[in-house]
Amino acid sequence: MTLPEVPLHVVDQGGGRPLLLVHGFPLDHSMWQGQIDELALECRVIAPDLRGFGRSPDAAGVVTMEQFADDLAGTLDRLGIRSPVVLCGLSMGGYIAWQFWRRHRVRLAALVLCDTRAGADTAEVARGRLATAERVLREGPGVLADTMLERLFAPATSAQRPELVEAVRRTILNTSAAGAAAALRGMAERLDMTDQLGQIDVPTQVVCGQYDVISPVVEMQALASRVAGSQFTVIPDAGHMSPLENPAAVNAAIRSLLRRL
Ligand code: MLT
Repeated sequence: MTLPEVPLHVVDQGGGRPLLLVHGFPLDHSMWQGQIDELALECRVIAPDLRGFGRSPDAAGVVTMEQFADDLAGTLDRLGIRSPVVLCGLSMGGYIAWQFWRRHRVRLAALVLCDTRAGADTAEVARGRLATAERVLREGPGVLADTMLERLFAPATSAQRPELVEAVRRTILNTSAAGAAAALRGMAERLDMTDQLGQIDVPTQVVCGQYDVISPVVEMQALASRVAGSQFTVIPDAGHMSPLENPAAVNAAIRSLLRRL
């Protein structure tokens, strides 16, 4: 079911080639601050808050990865961006990137996949997500901060950079319970993309934090090996939140893709 269009809150900075930054769950555009500041010097950086997150309109029920992808295409329309974009997605942002590639291929110049995966949830993981969605609706987004926060970062980041962890905690606590539940339900029913990776025909950069425990290096390396001509970069001193934990290394990987275009 397609949901009615909503205007997403968007940071739109810089000029030139559009670089669309798609945040992970349960976050907002602020996770990309280290990319926005640097890359807007050479690109037009578009960093939306997805439906149900940040300052964008709230969501309810289910928001599928396909719907999020269509929301991004609608946002590009509203911004008058017709030229193909470089889409950079982290984790859930990567799940959305696959659907953008399937549904809006002509609008895509290249992909950057950060700390994500191609497979669908197992039945057990999907059941767990649905249960978490109900719990978040009952108890609020603090449930997500309690269960996710530690796993998002490399151990050294958690120990030595409490301000970064606290900023992400604040973002999670400010997330709408209904929006988070809708995205959890959407992730639980997402497609397995593994068999389609060989058909990806845009330049692709895959990045993974060295200490990512959610989408580990070995899994992302396997993903990258299935995408013809992709480049794979391990981001040192970072966990799942590699763009936030080591922006310089992630920006260098994005720049190296931009140079290939
Ligand atoms: C994310 O960072 O977007 C989440 O870890 C994705 C997920 O829960 O699969």
